[in-house]
Amino acid sequence: MNLLVLLVIVAALAALQLVATRWVTVNRLAWMAVWWVAIYLGLAYGINPPLPSSIIVLFMAIVTLALAVYLSADSDELASAVQTVTAFIVEKRFRVALLTVLAVLPLLVALKVYTNLSNPPQPPSSSRTIHPPPPASIIFDGTAIDLATANNPYRELEHTDPAAFAQHVENGRRVYFENCFYCHGDNMQGAGMFAHGYDPIPANFNDPTTIAMLQESYLFWRIAKGAPGLPSESTPWSSAMPAWENFLTEEEIWDVIIFLYEFTGYEPRAQGMPH
Ligand code: HEC
Repeated sequence: MNLLVLLVIVAALAALQLVATRWVTVNRLAWMAVWWVAIYLGLAYGINPPLPSSIIVLFMAIVTLALAVYLSADSDELASAVQTVTAFIVEKRFRVALLTVLAVLPLLVALKVYTNLSNPPQPPSSSRTIHPPPPASIIFDGTAIDLATANNPYRELEHTDPAAFAQHVENGRRVYFENCFYCHGDNMQGAGMFAHGYDPIPANFNDPTTIAMLQESYLFWRIAKGAPGLPSESTPWSSAMPAWENFLTEEEIWDVIIFLYEFTGYEPRAQGMPH
């Protein structure tokens, strides 16, 4: 609530009411216009944090409707309002005012379009490296893993023992739906139920610029170490990716990696190819 603005609006309305009852007669149409503007100002400037403009448009549409109902409830008032509008359009003495309104309305629309267009979207103040070079090796559970040479130990089962491979896929599916889908989504598009709260948003694994261009050892590093393990050029925005080394075993991480590729249909990038 912005009390000061609301007070000013209420005071202005009260003052107008005083003037109107004592010295001049104001017809209902003019009063409605005054109320319309007052409610608009109240919604646009009297509420903190500010309402989104779509909500204001919605409220103002309702207000317009309510005022129209109010006006048409009394047939004398309605007739006099129609008369006022007709007089404004047809009478010679309003000719200049009418032409001014007709000229100003499209100009206002043009001005709005112009100001909208002349505000170019601002890029973020610092850019973020989405796929930073991985470290040469990481320590997982007390053991060093060389990321340049590490392979998914279960990958070869795909050809040598498809039944065992299928079990790793199933285990990866379990790990994914127990831990990852809240953020990365049930179809891996990065649109899980928590996703909208994060900046950067969780990775969309269907996007060809994520896992499709990465090696499995790279994913192992990203999943094991999460956001805390990222170098500084990748953390100007705070990534919410948890460090899964605290919750998952080495096998579970390799399995969930297999599942990511199985589900999306992508092949991991071959070992030894530069990023
Ligand atoms: C709390 C939300 C959250 C959960 C839960 C989560 N992630 Fe993430 N993840 C993120 C965010 C946010 C990013 C993107 C930002 C970044 O690059 O750090 C990300 C990025 C990644 C990346 C890097 C992708 C790339 O293109 O570099 C991988 C791989 C990943 N997540 C896998 C997983 C796996 C596997 C799990 C489950 C074991 C999981 N995530 C659970 C939030 C989450």
